Amino acid sequence: TRHLKRGLPLENKKVVITAGPTHEAIDPVRYIGNHSTGLMGIELAEKAAALGAEVTLVLGPTHLGVQDTSIHLYRITTAEEMYQATLKAFEGADVAIAAAAVADYRPKNAAREKIKKKEDRFSIELVRNRDILMELGKKKKRQFLLGFALETENELENAQKKLKSKNLDAIVLNSLKDEGAGFGGSTNKITFIDKNSTIKSFDVKTKAEVALDIWNEIISRLHA
Ligand code: CTP
Ligand code: CA
Repeated sequence: TRHLKRGLPLENKKVVITAGPTHEAIDPVRYIGNHSTGLMGIELAEKAAALGAEVTLVLGPTHLGVQDTSIHLYRITTAEEMYQATLKAFEGADVAIAAAAVADYRPKNAAREKIKKKEDRFSIELVRNRDILMELGKKKKRQFLLGFALETENELENAQKKLKSKNLDAIVLNSLKDEGAGFGGSTNKITFIDKNSTIKSFDVKTKAEVALDIWNEIISRLHA
């Protein structure tokens, strides 16, 4: 089907995308996770494939799937598994997007058996997970690297700090303060910030439309 994609803007480009939550086991029946559905990353993957790219999607636990059968889909559970799968695809990639809501911490030791309730208080020791995007930023060569930022205060400032500290080419700020943005919903409101501090704010749109806006921004910078 390669000939059908001739003339498309992402033709001959390899793209890797992380999406969805990660689950970090507490015991055989419980985990630490978050409310991400993976939809934003899935829409980015579908759009990239439609624009002619060869797409690898590393997807955390979600009920959602992908339509485009050309997408290489890796379903993983933990942050560490997401890291391993993403790193493999990153080396040969032209564009990498970290849209996943990775758990920042995991239980230090997952219990082998289901934990029984005993005391009135109970705590679990957590250890930091590897920052997948930060690792990609360190290994980056020719790749265009895009991250997301989820902030509830000092949004622009914090997003720009993440862009710099993770060695990104651009970052997409999810504006949680606005109606119709964030986890779970089908719409999103974003601000696109590149490494030259060019800032572009978009209206509330469906995540499919947001995905196209993001790709348009990336594509214009790939050819620049
Ligand atoms: N990210 C990642 N691996 C992690 C944590 C985050 O790849 N272990 C990526 C996310 O996919 C996102 C970006 O880093 O693209 C920013 O994630 P976010 O949670 O907003 O920021 P953190 O760097 O984790 O900082 P904090 O949660 O403390 O704000
Ligand atoms: Ca985080």
